[in-house]
Amino acid sequence: MDMRIALIPGDGIGPDIVREGVKILNKTADLYGHRIEYVEVDAGGISIDKYGIPLTEDNLEKAKSADAVLLGAVGGPKWDGMPGDKRPEKGLLGLRSGMGLFCNLRPARIYPELSSASPLKDSIIANGVDLIVFRELTGGIYFGKKERTSDGAYDVMSYTEGEIVRIARKAFEAARLRRGRVTLVDKANVLETSRLWRETVKKLSADYPDVELDFMYVDNASMQLVRDPSHFDVLLTENMFGDILSDEASQITGSIGMLPSASLRDDSFGMYEPIHGSAPDIAGKNIANPIATILSCAMMLRYSFSLEDEARCIEDAVAASLSDGIRTSDIAAGGNYIGTAECGDEIARRMQR
Ligand code: IPM
Ligand code: MG
Repeated sequence: MDMRIALIPGDGIGPDIVREGVKILNKTADLYGHRIEYVEVDAGGISIDKYGIPLTEDNLEKAKSADAVLLGAVGGPKWDGMPGDKRPEKGLLGLRSGMGLFCNLRPARIYPELSSASPLKDSIIANGVDLIVFRELTGGIYFGKKERTSDGAYDVMSYTEGEIVRIARKAFEAARLRRGRVTLVDKANVLETSRLWRETVKKLSADYPDVELDFMYVDNASMQLVRDPSHFDVLLTENMFGDILSDEASQITGSIGMLPSASLRDDSFGMYEPIHGSAPDIAGKNIANPIATILSCAMMLRYSFSLEDEARCIEDAVAASLSDGIRTSDIAAGGNYIGTAECGDEIARRMQR
């Protein structure tokens, strides 16, 4: 297969980890006889430094012209003083909305080898943690009208039925291939948008009688996530709640440096990135954990290129290296650890057809 992949290393450790992702993608191409062409795209702080804005039209077009995008991370203290529309994060939001990536998948699972890294007690994680957040990514309060008034400010949260249906369908379909449960998280006791989510998702659930649907208020959900994470299979929610809950979900696995994500739309195009941030304090030091990015590459092969065997090959190699004791410093728990590039090498070495 011929693949055209846009690389957006971004800021901080972004370049360190994207390099390892490319290493793994190239190894996959070698093993399975694919051809990959890369196109480099600037977004975030690096774009502010070069062009004065976090995302140029040109760079957005370059990313769009690819079949899929691999992103490292954006942001850092260097750009913290910038006004809202000139911050690096705005580049990320511009990519998401500019490419129409409404469906954000954030899986959180505990690897048995790393279960001691979870901040939760053994008795709580005994039933396992394996959930996936389906976060709406291009609507809601993030993209509503926002303004300063003479003595205040407002951010508008609005949703249409169409925006809800298209992501809810994806959540139901994913649940079918998993444990068959969708939990819609909202604040329907207060917010009108949440009542619309509830009504719309309930109606749609008639098309998926084999999937169990339950509802949870977001405050309760944030508690249930640490009380009994095994309750959750597919967690479906709007943009801001998804932002907050996916950080919580990732932390209960104890290894935020390991969690990948995918941002999708209705065709095969997608953007893939680690869940963690740009960690500017360790940038360029060969310390960062590349596994989240490497697993994001596996998601890319699965969702954008329908290459399930190749995706599994990467995931198996990650699992094998973990059980062989390969660790970067963030997951070493006081034991031995290796650097970013060496970790990428160890995983690549364990990949086999
Ligand atoms: C995330 C991040 C972004 C978000 C920021 C960087 C704009 O927190 O991807 O979760 O809020 O969506
Ligand atoms: Mg976030």
